[in-house]
Amino acid sequence: MKRLWLAAAVTLAMASAMAADPAKINWSKVPATTVPLFYPGQSSYEWLRSDKHPGAQGVQANLPCAGCHEGQQKKLGAKVVKGGALEPTPVKGKDAYKELKVQAAYDDQNAYLRFQWKTNARRPGIEYPYYRFDGKEWKVYGEPRLNKAVREGKQPPIYEDRLTLMIDDGKVPVFAAQGCWLTCHTGERDMPGEASKADAQKVLKRNDVRKYLPLTRTNPSDWTTVKSDEELAKLKAEGGFVDLVQWRAHRSNPVGGADDGFVLQYRLFDKGKNHFASNMDNEKKVPKLMYDARKFKSKATTAKDVRKRDPFLIKDVNAVAFDPSAGWKEGDMLPRYYLQPAEDSAADNKAKGTWKNGTWTVVLIRPLGLANADDKALKDGGVYSVGFAVHDDNITTRGHQVSFVKTLGFGAKADIRAVKLK
Ligand code: HEC
Repeated sequence: MKRLWLAAAVTLAMASAMAADPAKINWSKVPATTVPLFYPGQSSYEWLRSDKHPGAQGVQANLPCAGCHEGQQKKLGAKVVKGGALEPTPVKGKDAYKELKVQAAYDDQNAYLRFQWKTNARRPGIEYPYYRFDGKEWKVYGEPRLNKAVREGKQPPIYEDRLTLMIDDGKVPVFAAQGCWLTCHTGERDMPGEASKADAQKVLKRNDVRKYLPLTRTNPSDWTTVKSDEELAKLKAEGGFVDLVQWRAHRSNPVGGADDGFVLQYRLFDKGKNHFASNMDNEKKVPKLMYDARKFKSKATTAKDVRKRDPFLIKDVNAVAFDPSAGWKEGDMLPRYYLQPAEDSAADNKAKGTWKNGTWTVVLIRPLGLANADDKALKDGGVYSVGFAVHDDNITTRGHQVSFVKTLGFGAKADIRAVKLK
């Protein structure tokens, strides 16, 4: 009798610990929220607090953006995208506004988030810049649209589509009101006062300035006033960072993942190994891996084949070590990054995206209750502040469409309410 009871209890425990097969989730039963995204240009933390923004006083008083702007996303995007004070280099044909359909579900193990959006281009943005052999050296081929070389027609526009979300659990002051805009500053890439490589190296020991949170600086509007390592470590230990999940059509989707990163004094990656790694041997100045001709039909690709076949270079799948004596010809190209399974805390997020009839559908799976020092743990009963962004049609940095903050709740009241799966 006792044994029988035990067996039943074990079965029960196993069943409750089992995760749903995301392919079997009936998404038509899960309510969808349409989140409006708009083109923000250079509406930085600093600009929003300056007398150039009519809402500056409200922003300084930590009021929510949506309190003044809800329902105006289309109008704001249209005004910014066409060029002006907030967009010095407008991109022709760029969507000012985008609707992101969000659905959320969870079970005892995971959160399942499903996203859908229409792409500007009539094809999925699965390409990433390449290294092209010019007869002597391997040089970058293809750049994102906001880059000067693309604007001047010297490089083709090539960059991957992305879906990004920032998550906070209430520990980052003002994130619930102003979301992503807290992280966008003067000095960052493609922003006013973009830092030189030398300056970024001197202050941050990095080649550029990227997203940071106000509390990581003694003066939030001056990226150079970064606090001491001890102060930053304390801030991180107290949860004063936002989680940054990035699904990438080139550099994570083919290996079933989405980046796991976070924003503190910089845009950082979680501990471990990412889904992608640089394909450049910096000492020898040649790629590290080339395609396995038996799997890819050739050892390299060429400009002619861009957007005509899947370009991914995946370690242990269709890649082999670069052979310098393989008879390289001018115009041979290899991907700038190769893919691999992620490891450790960087491997938490799984994702699968498919593009059909002009729409991406991405399902993201994130375990509940993550205990890593660089993660915001999602929990049953929890409500989180989230911001969404889409990078669409060969662009990066500010060239995205962004949302005001929404709340995401697991078995709790929120803008986006995750449904518990049975
Ligand atoms: C107290 C109200 C208020 C708050 C809070 C506020 N704004 Fe504004 N904002 C305004 C007004 C008013 C305008 C001018 C609208 C117009 O010209 O139609 C404006 C204009 C803008 C514009 C358009 C700039 C242009 O090209 O003219 C952007 C972008 C913007 N706000 C972003 C934000 C963001 C992001 C936040 C939150 C961090 C925010 N605003 C918070 C009142 C506010």
